[in-house]
Amino acid sequence: MLDSQTKVNNKSLRIAVLVSGSGSNLQVLINAMQAGALPIEIVGVISNREDAYAITRANDASIPVAVLSHVASGKRMGIKTFETHASAQLSAWQPDLIVLAGFMRVLSGAFIENAPAPMINLHPALLPAYKGLDTHQRAIQTGERNHGCSIHVVTAELDAGAVLTQALLEVNQKDTADSLQARVQQGEHQLLPWTILLIAKGIIDLNNPHNNAESSYLPALPLKLWINN
Ligand code: GAR
Repeated sequence: MLDSQTKVNNKSLRIAVLVSGSGSNLQVLINAMQAGALPIEIVGVISNREDAYAITRANDASIPVAVLSHVASGKRMGIKTFETHASAQLSAWQPDLIVLAGFMRVLSGAFIENAPAPMINLHPALLPAYKGLDTHQRAIQTGERNHGCSIHVVTAELDAGAVLTQALLEVNQKDTADSLQARVQQGEHQLLPWTILLIAKGIIDLNNPHNNAESSYLPALPLKLWINN
């Protein structure tokens, strides 16, 4: 549960970030934290890949990192073992919020339900369209005029929790999956800090995402951001 005192006292929101890859979204959060632009403290990063560049980014910012590699000494770490270690680590860090930013393992319902804080995920499509992988390629093949990214609450069902925010852009005739991915990522780099700010300020209530009644003068979720790039 998001501690109401955290919001009232304007205390920093303690964030744990789960990553698997480059960590460009993690970097945006690190930059915002270091600039004092977001009321957050990144208390730790968990990577399920030992070659993720996100680890270097966290190390450079002196943020604690736990590498729970899905392959160690040629052996695959099963999801149960991963979750046991990740649970212990998260409990030790005591986050207010867990952010999946390019985290590519599917987590079990039990892990999600017992997590020490609400969990959000950044997904590279306009949910509920294009759950899963290869979202940009599929959007182009379908001839979508608009595409983008979403931030949603993590639930046991993959990419299916309440959608909190979305960044939208127009698909260009010339777009390839790569160019679209690059443009969507620019949107992600605005959407993620914006969403976390709305959560930190209590404008988005993760305990009751379908009812942002506290701020009933606001539009219903998902809140949308148009990207012109
Ligand atoms: C992001 O584009 C994110 O949307 C995607 O991974 C990328 C990670 O980039 N996430 C998923 O596909 C989750 N299903 P980053 O490591 O540079 O932040």
